[in-house]
Amino acid sequence: MVEASAPAKVILFGEHAVVYGKPAIAVPVSSLRVNVRVIESEQDGIAIVTPLLNEVLRVDDTDVDNNPLVTAVRYTLDALQIRQANLTLQITSQIPVASGLGSGAAVSAAIVRGLAQQFGRALEDEVVNELVFEVEKLYHGTPSGVDNTVIVYEQPVYFVKGQPIERLVFSGEYRLLIADTGKAALTRVAVGDVRKLYEREPERIQPVLDEIGEVVVQARLALEAGDSLTVGKLMWRNHELLDQLTVSSAELDALVAAARNAGALGAKLSGGGRGGNMIALVTEETRSEVREALIAAGAVRVFETVVA
Ligand code: PMV
Repeated sequence: MVEASAPAKVILFGEHAVVYGKPAIAVPVSSLRVNVRVIESEQDGIAIVTPLLNEVLRVDDTDVDNNPLVTAVRYTLDALQIRQANLTLQITSQIPVASGLGSGAAVSAAIVRGLAQQFGRALEDEVVNELVFEVEKLYHGTPSGVDNTVIVYEQPVYFVKGQPIERLVFSGEYRLLIADTGKAALTRVAVGDVRKLYEREPERIQPVLDEIGEVVVQARLALEAGDSLTVGKLMWRNHELLDQLTVSSAELDALVAAARNAGALGAKLSGGGRGGNMIALVTEETRSEVREALIAAGAVRVFETVVA
């Protein structure tokens, strides 16, 4: 038996605009993980067993061709040039699905690593990242690649589509609350809607994307300088700009407002939006109050993570 895991992630700045070539900043959430156990089996072929699904998936079945878990297994076997194996993959996850925390990319990364380990092959992060990106296309349609990159490298990244990865080193610590609206939302749909909006009204939407890009550049400087007040202000602004792209929702706006009233330094939706999660930047002094305010405003779950 071998085991592999991968973390969740949050996008601190720049989601959606990143699809249009703007930068984004994302960080791993190492305390929330997907775990994959690879166990040798008596049965022919590969079976995937997970509480995420009600059924057992058999990788050889043609009716699961579009399933991302199956696709992750098939792409990995191809990359490893393995034609036949008898295995069970047990997948467990602490990451809520369809909520902007990168559960899809994390599952794929854990599958790729688990299988590589099973066959005694250490794959470079770069190769794992490429495989996970291919699977991401099934979840997202036109993914920018930010999710797979931050999850595979498990480090804060400054990401620009098609450019070499830049790892970020922050000054000081940033304490984040991650609050779940409890409403699942498909990133693919939100990304598609932004695309339609952009095509319909490019002269109105382009400046919004441009300003998000500027916010991200300033946020990088502030994060590197340890200037959490500026980081917070930029979060509020990024949320407003995402709202202009129509990817916020009443639930997300309520949580962002609650965080503001309870003294958070900044807050914004994180990920695809329309539901899913938001993040709030807090301090030791404000964390309890903000957490309570988020729960009172409808958050079904609040995780805390420290980014350093
Ligand atoms: O919803 P998530 O966390 O998977 O984030 C997607 C981020 C987007 O910028 C909206 C899409 C992308 O491919 O970058």
